[in-house]
Amino acid sequence: MLDRTTIARVLYAVSTDDATHARLILEGSDHASDALVVRLCDILRRDLPPTELARQLGDACADAGLDKDIVNECYRAAFYLGERWPELADNPLFAYFLANRSGGGVLHKWPHYFPVYHRHLERYRGRPVRVLEIGVYRGGGLTMWQKYFGPDAVIVGADIDDAAVRATKGRFVVELGDQADPAFLRGLHETYGPFDVVIDDGGHTMQQQIVTAETLFPLLKDDGLLIVEDTHTSYWPSFGGGLGEPGAFLTWARDRVDDLHSQHHQSLDRSSVWARELGGVHFYDSVVVFDRERRFRAFDEVAGGASYILADQFSERIAVESSAERERVREELAAVRDQNLRLAAQLGAVEAGGGVDTVMAEQAGLEDDLRRARSEQADLRARLESAARLDAEQSAVLAGFHERLARSEKRLAASEEHRRLVEGSVSWRVTKPLRAVRSRLRRG
Ligand SMILES: C[S@@+](CC[C@H](N)C(=O)[O-])C[C@H]1O[C@@H](n2cnc3c(N)ncnc32)[C@H](O)[C@@H]1O
Repeated sequence: MLDRTTIARVLYAVSTDDATHARLILEGSDHASDALVVRLCDILRRDLPPTELARQLGDACADAGLDKDIVNECYRAAFYLGERWPELADNPLFAYFLANRSGGGVLHKWPHYFPVYHRHLERYRGRPVRVLEIGVYRGGGLTMWQKYFGPDAVIVGADIDDAAVRATKGRFVVELGDQADPAFLRGLHETYGPFDVVIDDGGHTMQQQIVTAETLFPLLKDDGLLIVEDTHTSYWPSFGGGLGEPGAFLTWARDRVDDLHSQHHQSLDRSSVWARELGGVHFYDSVVVFDRERRFRAFDEVAGGASYILADQFSERIAVESSAERERVREELAAVRDQNLRLAAQLGAVEAGGGVDTVMAEQAGLEDDLRRARSEQADLRARLESAARLDAEQSAVLAGFHERLARSEKRLAASEEHRRLVEGSVSWRVTKPLRAVRSRLRRG
């Protein structure tokens, strides 16, 4: 069987665009007649760019069941020899990962996770978010997340192995416990949560992933999210997975797609936390992202038809205008009501006494005011009545106003009577000549 060193030499030759030399390495090896080596040499005879040669070598090694690390190395070469890596160059997480040659803590990642992280996590950067990473190892992830989210973010770690606590040397809070224990997870939430982001990079067994999701997703902040990494373990029996395995995490996660659509089938449960609060579930190769969001019941409506352009638009405009008119009328009514109250108060003062001249002068003024108020009132009433959808409150205001107006009119009539009485009184008659002189003097 081909060993790693031979494959490394082959890949090096391919990367220097020397496929002939790569083939000679294989043909000169002890395994030259192996079916796999024959196939690899055949690939190396093809006129293909280095990236494509490396990918096909990787596929052939994978088909032959070669060591995963050898296959991994072929695909790494294919990626870095190709044109896709510059797309990742702008990704701050990938930049950090590549620049972290030493000192930032060991980081073991699949580079295709970085665009996924950044797509879902970018909106939390620079904010005082609470982030929980389950599975700390030597703390490289915690350091990276702190750098990514910024100094205001609180980053908390959880691991079953106390080596993780020692490795982080007090730079981060790392709680010891088993992620398959719901009480441990709830304790993390109570002490450090609610979390905006939970990243499950722990033990990756089916039970650990499912218990963690079921316990922590409902405790996330509204608008929070849960990322479960390395979900390819759902295909690995050693982690409790297997193709089509009913207890696999990805089988469980696929059921959440039904929860997203619970409204659309009678037999689906609409009341579970997943049906109510799962805003979206995103499947990627080896990563699943769950968005928490308080959902409203979905509904549909029609827009963009002719009815919108014609009738609906008109009725909309009429509704807007009618509501604006109602508002104007309400304000004017309030002003007239105040004026009316003032008139009533003045009438009261007149009734309470005062000189005859004052009574007459004020009364004349009041009569004018009241006439104006009445005509304004009539105008308002006409406008109010023509305004569409006159509501009960307005009607009540109008009725109240009418009542007050009637009372004012009554008081005015009483005042009129009072004046007549004064005019008919003895003092009025006695002072008549005096008033005639005063009046002449005023005219002259
Ligand atoms: C892949 S490593 C984490 C790597 C780290 N996230 C990083 O980016 O550097 C997995 C970690 O999960 C921890 N782990 C395994 N089983 C666990 C469990 N049941 N509960 C909590 N942590 C667990 C291991 O001790 C290990 O440190």
